[in-house]
Amino acid sequence: MIYLSKTVNIDWGKLGFTYTKTDFRYKSIWKDGSWDNGILTEDNTLTISEGSTALHYGQQCFEGLKAYRTKDGKIQLFRPDQNSKRMNKSCRRLLMPEVPEEKFIDACIQVVKANEAYVPPYGTGATLYLRPYLIGIGDNLGVKPAPEYLFGVFCSPVGPYFKGGLAPVNFMISDYDRAAPFGTGAAKVGGNYAGSLMPHEIAVKKGFADCIYLDPLTHTKIEEVGAANFFGITKDNKFITPISESILPSITKYSLLAVAKEYLGLEVEEREVFIDNIDEFKEAGACGTAAVISPIGGIEYKGKLHVFHSQTEVGPITKKLYDTLCGIQFGEVEPPKGWIVEAK
Ligand code: PLP
Ligand code: COI
Repeated sequence: MIYLSKTVNIDWGKLGFTYTKTDFRYKSIWKDGSWDNGILTEDNTLTISEGSTALHYGQQCFEGLKAYRTKDGKIQLFRPDQNSKRMNKSCRRLLMPEVPEEKFIDACIQVVKANEAYVPPYGTGATLYLRPYLIGIGDNLGVKPAPEYLFGVFCSPVGPYFKGGLAPVNFMISDYDRAAPFGTGAAKVGGNYAGSLMPHEIAVKKGFADCIYLDPLTHTKIEEVGAANFFGITKDNKFITPISESILPSITKYSLLAVAKEYLGLEVEEREVFIDNIDEFKEAGACGTAAVISPIGGIEYKGKLHVFHSQTEVGPITKKLYDTLCGIQFGEVEPPKGWIVEAK
């Protein structure tokens, strides 16, 4: 297919994390044991059976990754192989057919190229967010895996997920859980997010950016910062991030573990982070594809706000992590082998 070059009228600097309808999206169907070739279509709606398992039993999963415009005008994806692997892990957890890695990455590249006009210019801070998803479809009634599946990828240009960008924001500890101890917390499935809507709303109404979830078994350890992972920098400059079976394994978090160690020379540790020991950290942050790195100004727990580096300024190590990660993503810093895939 040949796409006519066009320009779009978007104020890139003003974008938040919202849906903008772009021109093309990818759809592919799994039926009778195999995937079809997939198509790009202008239709941003789905017509599916009312009995689809995705609608009733939450048999669906999704991913999130971004395309970045470099200074010389190229477009590149950040670690799409990791999103493919994680989506296939979610598929195995919910008994859905896996999408071959090559098909997943090819679909992402097709969508980026077909919507090139929507890839924000270098220097605006905005990016093109890609949302791959896989849903159980087809006529069905009982609680069982669907007879057919739809794999789709759409995209939308986006700005910052948390309003502050690199300005610190506050979070509160939630009394609610987003996942069960041996449930689906480590899979990127819609049910985890449905359960997070109310705790999120409670936090926002109280003036916080989002809530922090503790471990569902003991409620003593930090797990997730809304839809992002947590990291902290100890007073002796170690990069620490929580470990748990119910945390979503964030690709950004694993990338930061490598960046902290290999680029900044910090000691790194993935280990339990007890909320009662929160003053071991001089800086803290939320990290994720949408969130990038959002410095945590303070955390409210049991009625008290614990403040880290500052309520107004990003801490120096968090800033270095941010600059190095974004440098790699936007093509200014040499990436580790295999992290960048050009969309060409
Ligand atoms: N935790 C949750 C619950 C998320 O939804 C996300 C977003 O994908 C993350 C963490 C961050 O993961 P990643 O860095 O792979 O985007
Ligand atoms: C992401 O960071 O890609 C997410 O999926 C977070 C949220 C928008 C669900």
